Amino acid sequence: LSNKHDHEHVTSLLHRIEQLPNGVCVRPTMIFDERGHMPGEHVYYVLGVDGEGPAPLGTFATAEHFYGDGGNNSEPAAVWNDLPPQRMAPEALQGKEAVGALRFEAADLAPGRHKDYLIVIGVDDTREGMGSVFNRFKTPQQFDASLSQNKAYWQDKVGTIQFLTGAPDETSWWQWVTLQPILRRIFGCSFLPDHDYGKGGKGWRDLWQDLLSLILIEPGNIRGTLINNFAGVRIDGSNATIIGAKPGEFIADRNFITRVWMDHGVWPLATLLLYIDQTGDYDILLEEGAYFRDVQFSRTYEKDYAWTAKHGDCLKDKHGNVYRGSILEHVLIQHLVQFFNVGEHNIIRLEDADWNDGLDMAKERGESVAFMSFYGGNLIALADLLSDLSRAKGVKEIALAVEIKTLLDSLTSMHVDYDDPKAKKDYLFEVYFPSVQPQVSGQKMAVAVKDIIGDLRNKGEWIFAQIREHEKVTVEQKGRTDTWFNGYYDNKGRRVEGRKDGRVWMTLPGQVFAVMSGLASGEDIGQIIASVRQYLRDGRTGGIRLNTDFGLDHYFDLGRAFGFAYGTKENGAVFSHMTVMYAYALYKRGFVQEGHEVLRSLRKMAMDSSKSKIYPGIPEYFDMEGRGHYHYLTGAASWLVLTQLTQVYGVRGEKGDLRIEPKLSSDEFDPSSGEASVICHFAGKKIKVTFQN
Ligand code: G1P
Repeated sequence: LSNKHDHEHVTSLLHRIEQLPNGVCVRPTMIFDERGHMPGEHVYYVLGVDGEGPAPLGTFATAEHFYGDGGNNSEPAAVWNDLPPQRMAPEALQGKEAVGALRFEAADLAPGRHKDYLIVIGVDDTREGMGSVFNRFKTPQQFDASLSQNKAYWQDKVGTIQFLTGAPDETSWWQWVTLQPILRRIFGCSFLPDHDYGKGGKGWRDLWQDLLSLILIEPGNIRGTLINNFAGVRIDGSNATIIGAKPGEFIADRNFITRVWMDHGVWPLATLLLYIDQTGDYDILLEEGAYFRDVQFSRTYEKDYAWTAKHGDCLKDKHGNVYRGSILEHVLIQHLVQFFNVGEHNIIRLEDADWNDGLDMAKERGESVAFMSFYGGNLIALADLLSDLSRAKGVKEIALAVEIKTLLDSLTSMHVDYDDPKAKKDYLFEVYFPSVQPQVSGQKMAVAVKDIIGDLRNKGEWIFAQIREHEKVTVEQKGRTDTWFNGYYDNKGRRVEGRKDGRVWMTLPGQVFAVMSGLASGEDIGQIIASVRQYLRDGRTGGIRLNTDFGLDHYFDLGRAFGFAYGTKENGAVFSHMTVMYAYALYKRGFVQEGHEVLRSLRKMAMDSSKSKIYPGIPEYFDMEGRGHYHYLTGAASWLVLTQLTQVYGVRGEKGDLRIEPKLSSDEFDPSSGEASVICHFAGKKIKVTFQN
């Protein structure tokens, strides 16, 4: 496709075309790319057969031949003038633009009769390979058998989780949602690039989000994938951003594009916690793996120009060996680095953005309170996880790289004053980073688990207290007082949320993670719910928006999102992923009716296809007209399945055991039988849980 847009004629000079008894194949000798040409490795083909057996009469194998002089796509001369196919002389065939047009013998069809033709369009690694695919599908019987096998395969996939609500259209809508994460795993974010999303690849965050539901839907081969994915973590707590084609393959960005997203550290642990709860597999924490290494140092503040591709993509020790640390160590680094990486308000720096990719213009002074809440909750969850590990496996000590111990500052002689943001940042940039870059020593030391737990808990609780004390926003307007959490500081160091020039600025992410992490108290949550209803809920649809209308044309001190029209994408759309996480957080904290209301609003918007204009499923966002966008690409589906199964139906693992804690609402039961059931997998078994209202 990119050749087509770029050097269409020159690339066709590379074509080696063959006319075959059943069709046409073309082998480009090279992949034309001025940054570095590469040998062509594939063969592209169109092969066909009459359902009763005969091969085509012949083929039109080049654009010149098929279209004819002056002909085009909609008026090809071969069709228009009913031309007979020909065997072409080599000079008319080679170096031309290939076409796979087949002409079959003319046939008369009596009314009501049908005739089968089987056409295979494909790409193969070898010329010999293409025959084998063709041979599998070349009779109507083979084709029908394969089609029903294919259907059975997909039915089985979507059958792994089934929510049986008594409303058949809802039950099947849920099956489509379950399918979405699988489709994104297969197609990445580039499914049908010309239709909506564009050609963006799947990123680090998406990789881990998708695994959340795949742990529930395809539990089989998750362990290896999890371990492989940790190979993307850098020793500075950031990670590779270009994801390779093979599992666990991460690619250095040779274009020197330097971006680092501050939220990236939270997702792997969230996914790992779910995995361990579902399976009880604590051993995974002690599995060892490499770290990613490229030109970037100190979260892109410095670069190692001495590094080239021949050094490989793995961090090494001073003896030149690839350094390997436990999965637990990887997770610790991701959180401890960020604890120290704060801006002037003692809030974790926004860097190039957080979950909201559109907040990409506040690298110097921006801060994300929203995700600092998440980090705080994770630090405490990590402390809990370590106590569980210690209890389950009798582990008393953990081996860590000696340099990492620095980040557990309370266990060293260098106690950092957490209330002093400069001291924290200096500690990170002047003590820790220089100790691990360009390489680590390779030495490890045993650290007592209970000491690590103490340090982590301390840090997590410090974050909670900091945000509770300093980040509440109160707005008085029209006789009401609303209180919620500020989510951000912009590049001028200004607090983003609150009342500004008569408008109220509020964001949903600022609330979601305060609730989800356990930072917000019950009373805080009550106030958040009221504020969200007041300022973020769409009066007509009930959908919860990502932010209020700041009334700006652009906001160069925060990010590109505010250049988008209000109500689209990351500027105030009903952005499904964040809205679902809001619902998840509410359920998790016991605010069931409120969570239910949020989920119901999304489901209603999606299923109202006269407005949403989408196939069944959840889109990335709904615009101001209620239209759904980016249908199959969104990580929202993953969180939606997770929320519905583990919170609403409440069927989930807890340290490897099955826990059932339903939070169903009355309208989720079948009105006639009074039942609601779910079919899912747990510990390798298919189970069905039925609740009687
Ligand atoms: C997309 C991106 C995701 C990002 C989000 C918000 O989300 O894939 O990484 O966090 O936009 O900017 P999705 O379409 O998966 O909901």
